[in-house]
Amino acid sequence: MSDINKRLYIETVGCQMNVLDSEMVVAALKKHGYGLTQTPADADAVLFNTCSVREHAEEKAYNNLHRLKQLKLANPEMVIGVMGCMAQKDQQGIFDRVPFVDMVVGPGQLHRIPEMIAKVREGEKHQLAVSLSRRDGNTDDIKRSHETFDPLRDPQMRPSPAQAYLRIQIGCDKFCTYCIVPMTRGPEQGRPPHQIVAEAQELARQGAKEITLLGQTVNSYKWVDGERTTRLADLLEMLHPIDGIERIKFVTNYPKDMTRELLETVRDLPKCVPYLHVPAQSGSDNILKRMKRGYTTADYYGMMDRIGEILPGAAVSSDFIVGFCGETEEEFQMTVDMVRRCRFKNSFVFQYSVRPGTKGADLYADDIPEEVKHRRNLELLEVQNQISLEDNLPFLGKTVEVLVEGPSKWSVRKGQTGDLRQMTGRTRCDRILVWDGNMRQTGEILPVKVTDVFAFTMFGAVETKEVVPELVQLGI
Ligand code: SAH
Ligand code: SF4
Ligand code: F3S
Repeated sequence: MSDINKRLYIETVGCQMNVLDSEMVVAALKKHGYGLTQTPADADAVLFNTCSVREHAEEKAYNNLHRLKQLKLANPEMVIGVMGCMAQKDQQGIFDRVPFVDMVVGPGQLHRIPEMIAKVREGEKHQLAVSLSRRDGNTDDIKRSHETFDPLRDPQMRPSPAQAYLRIQIGCDKFCTYCIVPMTRGPEQGRPPHQIVAEAQELARQGAKEITLLGQTVNSYKWVDGERTTRLADLLEMLHPIDGIERIKFVTNYPKDMTRELLETVRDLPKCVPYLHVPAQSGSDNILKRMKRGYTTADYYGMMDRIGEILPGAAVSSDFIVGFCGETEEEFQMTVDMVRRCRFKNSFVFQYSVRPGTKGADLYADDIPEEVKHRRNLELLEVQNQISLEDNLPFLGKTVEVLVEGPSKWSVRKGQTGDLRQMTGRTRCDRILVWDGNMRQTGEILPVKVTDVFAFTMFGAVETKEVVPELVQLGI
């Protein structure tokens, strides 16, 4: 095979969907003889998996592409590809801006990457594979052009073999006015339940202990087969019996579809962890309306009450956009109040970035100055951090069950080598712990005693599970 011993450099930004897409592409190219390299200069193929959700992410992607120019001049054989949401959004425009890019592949066409690389290497430059846009045909054709790419799974391609993402839904039909995702990822489509279950069984055989079900609005998941409709709660029931899987999570949730039935299913299935990511976006009804989120703050507070009643102690996290078009100081303060009232485990806060092609860009002026957006961002995070710290404090001295993910970020930054490292893992409610541990703990579920807490991280010590032989001899 001509591709044997080739090296691939891949860089991924954006959401979990992109992380999973990269895993799939790497696994597919591995079958074609590609191995991974961490340095673009050593690569035969360079792929950027891009995100369009905010302008900043796109600018960075273009800057990174421009930076490859010298490498491409030195090695014209090097194949440079752009995949992901920016590929779908900018299409031919990417070749216009960066002419030495060889291929552009939207997230619905990833299966074509090996064939496209081969074509580029045969001299056919500027390969383009994108899905139909929302206005380019009938719904069925558009849907078919957005293909989910979930070939056989390869545990070596995952950052932590015990944890795996599993796509259950692609696309989005909610059309929030600020958001580009429905344009880049196409119509919402659930994957067939039997495929999802088969993939989960395969993941369990490969040693996955935790699976995270992925969808842009994962709890809106629906699969209709004749008379029978399968929803997320049904899927959880189907996945729960799989041996080896010990934790099941699902992201991202849409507030309106957080039904009582789903919450009760999570309560009744012990493998479903008490952690829910349900972005609120704003605490102001006026802003929510203009974002076309489809719920009011009263609905959201009602949902929080339902979660508190059915899953007491569950951790909830959220996303917020600050500085959306026309957001007044009072409206922003309503968001601050919402964070105070809901006491999220953590919140991701984003400054509004106008996205050409969205309804918001057409309808409203992006009229909040950058410094105001920035100040609101900091203020909201400060309130959230205080809450995160306060809510972590009760964990002090307690022992929690942690799924070990691997060496901590600090350990990687410090260049720690060998078996003894600072390790990291997550509790069932998604809180992050670090401790001085051993690389062989990776993938284990261990009891860890919490010794110190901060807003984002808790420190701890592994409690040994083994019975110490001397103590047995002493009869203790
Ligand atoms: N499907 C998920 C989120 C997808 S995008 C959901 O519906 O919750 C992730 C987050 O990016 C969103 O929750 C939102 O907070 C933020 N975001 C999306 N579009 C944005 C924009 N134009 N400017 C700033 N933040 C944005
Ligand atoms: Fe974007 Fe809204 Fe869809 Fe989430 S639900 S992906 S924010 S359009
Ligand atoms: Fe970004 Fe696309 Fe995900 S725009 S957030 S990579 S769906």
